[in-house]
Amino acid sequence: MRSHLLNDTTAEQYRRSVTEGIERVAAKLAATDRPFTGVTVDALAPTIDAIDLDKPLFDTAAVLDELEDVYLRDAIYFHHPRYLAHLNCPVVIPAVLGEAILSAINSSLDTWDQSAGGTLIERKIVDWTTARIGLGENADGVFTSGGTQSNLQALLLAREEAKTDSFAKLRIFASEVSHFSVKKSAKLLGLGQDAVVSIPVDHDKRMQTVALAHELERCRKDGLVPMAVVATAGTTDFGSIDPLPEIAELCDQFDTWMHVDAAYGCGLLASVKYRGRIDGIERADSVTVDYHKSFFQPVSSSAVLVRDASTLRHATYHAEYLNPRRMVSERIPNQVDKSLQTTRRFDALKLWMTLRVMGADGIGQLFDEVCDLAVEGWRLLAADPRYDVVVEPSLSTLVFRYIPAAVTDPAEIDRANLYARKALFASGDAVVAGTKVQGRHYLKFTLLNPETTTEDIAAVLDLIAGHAEQYLGESLDRAS
Ligand SMILES: Cc1ncc(COP(=O)(O)O)c(C=O)c1O
Repeated sequence: MRSHLLNDTTAEQYRRSVTEGIERVAAKLAATDRPFTGVTVDALAPTIDAIDLDKPLFDTAAVLDELEDVYLRDAIYFHHPRYLAHLNCPVVIPAVLGEAILSAINSSLDTWDQSAGGTLIERKIVDWTTARIGLGENADGVFTSGGTQSNLQALLLAREEAKTDSFAKLRIFASEVSHFSVKKSAKLLGLGQDAVVSIPVDHDKRMQTVALAHELERCRKDGLVPMAVVATAGTTDFGSIDPLPEIAELCDQFDTWMHVDAAYGCGLLASVKYRGRIDGIERADSVTVDYHKSFFQPVSSSAVLVRDASTLRHATYHAEYLNPRRMVSERIPNQVDKSLQTTRRFDALKLWMTLRVMGADGIGQLFDEVCDLAVEGWRLLAADPRYDVVVEPSLSTLVFRYIPAAVTDPAEIDRANLYARKALFASGDAVVAGTKVQGRHYLKFTLLNPETTTEDIAAVLDLIAGHAEQYLGESLDRAS
């Protein structure tokens, strides 16, 4: 069994084994003609259930053959141009190479003595990102598992910085279309049930700053403490960007922590054309960035960044076995001092490889292309009488609803849209997402693939219309 341990004596086997896996994946990617096979849970589950994990195959090729049946054949392929659903991007090859390297070397980014250069590389990527944001000389940050954890850590720091004698008095302000992780964080941080104050959005799904000012004022009058305002730079559904400069002004006025959730919109940090859309982000106290959403990086790749490095001390705990206090005076750079995690992946290597091979402009151009594609898609939808489209895109999502000419009952239209999404998924021809707008069911394209064309968008809209019409036809038959 020692022959399976990766070490000096098995380097050749490592090369053969990993190459075999890469060959399969490469062949798979080249041959994939749909984003999904449409397999159902009931059809797939027995194949996986039938595998006896206590009966190994002892042969890599045989396991890869089996993997075809249990995973590869029916996986969801984000690289396919008709995968248009969630905030999952196709990935760039330098980052995938980074992923292969980091798992083989297996550095752990908690301490210097488990990572060495890895720690310095992560620090350099963090500095590169804070400089792009414009957070100033004292900025710092750390990689996290994703936007949810980045938001949690940012709000933990905000809670610790808030001047209060009771958590029950703390309030967080976020728009009604902010990410649900804000509410989840409030719960995890032991804040009260009413801790998150929902601020209405305008027609473009951007936080209404007049309403925010009003709520901040009311908070003070009620003897409560505004702990943080969460501005979203790229909402999950609409890609809308809250008015960051106005929000920054209000945060100054009310002496409140400003957190910018740029999990999605962070791609604009590398943008060649649209960086100006997130102006004001440089005034944040903390920022969430998800490179695995708009920097074309494999999951996971995310960071939380802060204006004032000293605030990260709220996540510090010194353990004698790992990062004793004396290491601080010895100037040993232990990233665990800044993180909620202990053992931690070297995700920064993926972005490092990407920046070194492609350059930031290369990434930015790809993101600009999907933003441009979204505008084209919006034009198609706006001109198409079969569809209602919600807002003009600020990033790369489109939220729309099929509106059949002959049907006026909104509940029946809901059912037709829900059916169309499911039927499309089952067909495997394309994958789209869904959401609710003012209580009604809508469909959503999240465009993150520069290989997707306007022709793809038009074709998927036709497929959706076909499925919705089929539902409505059958529904008429049922009624008659
Ligand atoms: C705006 C926003 N913030 C945070 C998150 C959570 O990120 P993650 O899924 O990486 O935890 C998302 C996920 O879609 C998001 O859209």
